[in-house]
Amino acid sequence: MLSSFLASPDFPWEVRKSLGESNRFGLSIGRVDLPFGTSVKQNEIREIIHSSGHDLVILRYPVERWDLAAGLQHQDFVTWQADTLLYFGKEKLEANATAVEGVLVLAAEQSAQIQQVVRQTFVLYGSHYMANPTLDPKAVIDGYVDWAMSFLYKPNSCILGEMNPDQRSIIWFCTLSIDGRDGEIVLGGVSPNTQGQGMYLRLLRSAESWIQKHAVDRAVISTQAFNGTVIRSWIRNGYNYLGSLNTLHIMPRLVFMSRRPTPDDIATTP
Ligand SMILES: CC(C)(COP(=O)(O)OP(=O)(O)OC[C@H]1O[C@@H](n2cnc3c(N)ncnc32)[C@H](O)[C@@H]1OP(=O)(O)O)[C@@H](O)C(=O)NCCC(=O)NCCS
Repeated sequence: MLSSFLASPDFPWEVRKSLGESNRFGLSIGRVDLPFGTSVKQNEIREIIHSSGHDLVILRYPVERWDLAAGLQHQDFVTWQADTLLYFGKEKLEANATAVEGVLVLAAEQSAQIQQVVRQTFVLYGSHYMANPTLDPKAVIDGYVDWAMSFLYKPNSCILGEMNPDQRSIIWFCTLSIDGRDGEIVLGGVSPNTQGQGMYLRLLRSAESWIQKHAVDRAVISTQAFNGTVIRSWIRNGYNYLGSLNTLHIMPRLVFMSRRPTPDDIATTP
């Protein structure tokens, strides 16, 4: 969520254990989010991450800190850039943003269909997890499904979507959350057999309408830097660039080497 990176630049940061990710991937995973404007010193962050004892630390930091990727290198650790996230925002949503006809706030009864559409749209998605060969791709997609489903139960959140006429499957979905002054479009996708037909615009319009009704006037959204289709659509629809975050994965070299797949494994991985 964007709010994690809007904290005061001087806010004391820490490596926090990510229990959900640790259980899912079967290794100890820590997370660090550095806010925009951070002036944390390379030495300080390097020492704290390297002494944290985790098998993997996932560090997100604003791209303005171009010194960090090289500055965190150490002979006993493998450190690589796993993705870059671009954030865009749209201010002053129109008060009369009309809801798109046929769009539903999805509920627990649609759980099977939600799980199916998330799985179909994100199974090969190039996230930072997929850039880590020590993580099981099956666990990655299971994680996306569980993450999406959690929005059914979170306060100030929802999953919007549009069902196929036979009610058996979902054409597109997006998860939304109100966070301070922002409404964030967190995760969204269009089912593979309806991609390339302009459905994404229905997703965006519906999300903006829901956000506007929840009394905040800025919609924010992010994606990996390679995702030109959605970025072009945001620009066409009045979104402005807000900032970018790099994601580094940092693993003790011994852990990385012991879990890295053999070349044969790589050949059979999609
Ligand atoms: C990225 C994604 C959301 C796009 O959804 P979509 O409904 O296929 O998007 P659109 O149909 O609006 O646009 C796809 C392309 O078709 C074009 N298009 C739109 N309407 C069209 C139409 N009627 N006829 C022909 N082409 C059309 C768009 O211009 C776009 O082209 P571009 O990539 O060259 O800009 C979808 O591919 C997806 O779910 N991908 C996997 C998950 C993902 O990336 N999620 C978003 C980031 S979290």
